[in-house]
Amino acid sequence: MTNISPSKKIHSVEEARIVAKKRVPKLMFDFVDGASGDEKLCENNSKALDQIRLQPKVLRNVEKRIIKKDILGFEYDQPFGFAPMGMCNLTWPGADKMLAEESLSNNIPMCVSMASSTSLEQMYEYSKGHVWLQLYNFQDEEFVMELLERAEKTGYKVAILTVDVPIQFRRAKDNRNGFTVPFNLGVKQFIDFATHPNWSISTLLGGIPKPMNYETSKRGNKFVRSESRGATDWDTLKRIREKWKGKLIIKGVMSAEDALKIKSEGADAIQVSNHGGRQLDSATSSIEALPIIRNALGKDFPIIFDSGIRGGSDIVRALALGADFTMVGRPLMYGIGADGAKGLKRVVDIIKDELSTALGLVGLTDIKDISSDIIAERFIRDFKY
Ligand SMILES: Cc1cc2nc3c(=O)[nH]c(=O)nc-3n(C[C@H](O)[C@H](O)[C@H](O)COP(=O)(O)O)c2cc1C
Repeated sequence: MTNISPSKKIHSVEEARIVAKKRVPKLMFDFVDGASGDEKLCENNSKALDQIRLQPKVLRNVEKRIIKKDILGFEYDQPFGFAPMGMCNLTWPGADKMLAEESLSNNIPMCVSMASSTSLEQMYEYSKGHVWLQLYNFQDEEFVMELLERAEKTGYKVAILTVDVPIQFRRAKDNRNGFTVPFNLGVKQFIDFATHPNWSISTLLGGIPKPMNYETSKRGNKFVRSESRGATDWDTLKRIREKWKGKLIIKGVMSAEDALKIKSEGADAIQVSNHGGRQLDSATSSIEALPIIRNALGKDFPIIFDSGIRGGSDIVRALALGADFTMVGRPLMYGIGADGAKGLKRVVDIIKDELSTALGLVGLTDIKDISSDIIAERFIRDFKY
């Protein structure tokens, strides 16, 4: 009997999730899939996107369609990139490299998390420069400044400051599973790893992933997942803006008031995001915040959107509600968990294909022409901008 590659069985992001759930140890799968507090916001993000209905338009000659999109002066082949995710190599060994190479072959940006399992220099090399660097501000601001210097020296042009984790919200699944970095290998975790031998052998052969931006730091900072970022404030933003001469994106903005102040502090873009439902569990869905922030900022200020995207139509919806560009998070890890680089490619191809098809079915041939006009009449009242 021939072995069918798992990615051949994947026809949607949800199917990738189901396959990944079987192949990846529960400890790791729940870390990726989980959310904070009551865990409903992750699902609400996608449900709220789903509720926005688009208006099909016919007889428009949509045979040729362009999905290239500019953001911050760079032209990318699709209007989405890879959201920053820490410790990706825990999902599957080599995940960071797969993400970097996939972003290169698609000409899209890959956001390298400060807590990534691969150093920012190595990620730059793997992706041939298709990388943006994401940072949190910890109590030791000098470490952030060191990373910015390293990024500039390496050739990075875009930095993202994530501001929605001043304190980390409780994650019940991680607590229940005993998820810690580095691993705490008790009986429960031992059984989990032993029942997922492919993952365990590959991880042992490749070496237990480490937060490499820390490991390579001259300052000797250690990664402490629960470390407070609580002291971050408007003055921190001023100092980081002063230091970083490249493009600066502020990620994790959900209020129009904050967005306006961030714009006035000289940021180049805002990323509307509730961290994929991994922070304030009682926040609104990210898509609900988007048109409100777009209305406040006016039509020209760059806005990136994430949280809840599970297919190409969701990207079209976000662009219709005021985003210039979008980021995808968990679906990439579902693809990698399901079938490594092939699974990742499969998920990206599905999203791209749906995106281009949805564009044509709303009667457009260029992604740049998307506006709130494509939203069906009865859904538009709250979303017009
Ligand atoms: C496993 C995982 C790790 C993450 N790590 C980071 C991180 O290090 N920095 C950050 O700014 N956001 C991080 N995020 C949030 C993502 O960048 C993004 O906002 C979120 O995943 C988008 O929602 P989605 O997963 O529904 O697409 C992480 C998300 C996941 C799922």
